[in-house]
Amino acid sequence: MTIKKSLFVITITGFAILFASQSIWAGAIVKDTFKVETKEIKKRKKAPPKFKLVELSHKKHNIDYKISCGECHHDKNNKPLDLKIGDDVQRCVECHTKLKKDKKNKKDIMVIENAMHGNCVSCHKETNKKAGDKKGLKGPAPASCGKCHIKIKK
Ligand code: HEC
Ligand code: HEC
Ligand code: HEC
Ligand code: HEC
Repeated sequence: MTIKKSLFVITITGFAILFASQSIWAGAIVKDTFKVETKEIKKRKKAPPKFKLVELSHKKHNIDYKISCGECHHDKNNKPLDLKIGDDVQRCVECHTKLKKDKKNKKDIMVIENAMHGNCVSCHKETNKKAGDKKGLKGPAPASCGKCHIKIKK
């Protein structure tokens, strides 16, 4: 094979791999599964090198667990968005702009950490309660700190 030809093959293979592992969403390309990382948060407690970032199986949540987009994505009035695959969305931090917890108002939902936990942990606890655990901490969906924020072993 000529160099030109093999470069072409490599490029095509690269694209094939890229498209096989991602869904194409108009405007934005979203990976089927990705690490939830709000880069705006500068001081983190639950990040590498001590902890892995939390991995969200985005596509699986939608398709396998049958969770509609609007259960996680809403508009500026907290109204669920009626989306379909391919639609663009705003990132959580675009509205939940507070990057740090306020000691006087620990539950302030406009704090990004509380918004994420309010979404993920609440549903997971409900899921586990339905599966029979009284407190909702144990069961099919991760709901205790260490199940989502996994320590990196040295
Ligand atoms: C269902 C999974 C899940 C569970 C359970 C969970 N978290 Fe989180 N946590 C997240 C996600 C997702 C974020 C958002 C990360 C981001 O936006 O970058 C987050 C963010 C955080 C942050 C802010 C970001 C940072 O790195 O400092 C802290 C602190 C935190 N979690 C602590 C906890 C503690 C303590 C518990 C248990 C009481 C807990 N989490 C339980 C998923 C989880
Ligand atoms: C289980 C909750 C959940 C479900 C269900 C869900 N998403 Fe998401 N999605 C998220 C989270 C969390 C992010 C990361 C947001 C961030 O970085 O602030 C995200 C990111 C995205 C992004 C990328 C945003 C960006 O600019 O980085 C798009 C586009 C998107 N989702 C569209 C959808 C669509 C369309 C559906 C339904 C077919 C859907 N999502 C279902 C939670 C969910
Ligand atoms: C366009 C702005 C906007 C975006 C984007 C946004 N939110 Fe919100 N969110 C709001 C507003 C406004 C509220 C209502 C606050 C209140 O009740 O005081 C809210 C409320 C919430 C609540 C509390 C829900 C309840 O009914 O108690 C959670 C949890 C939440 N958001 C999580 C998220 C997550 C996770 C994302 C990203 C996937 C996100 N939000 C993206 C504006 C937004
Ligand atoms: C509306 C409900 C709902 C919301 C919101 C939700 N989840 Fe889940 N999650 C589930 C269910 C249901 C399961 C699967 C339980 C099972 O295996 O039957 C699950 C499982 C998981 C798992 C373990 C299995 C897997 O697919 O990786 C992780 C990790 C997870 N969720 C992360 C998250 C994160 C991070 C968020 C917030 C950004 C989130 N989830 C929001 C319902 C939800």
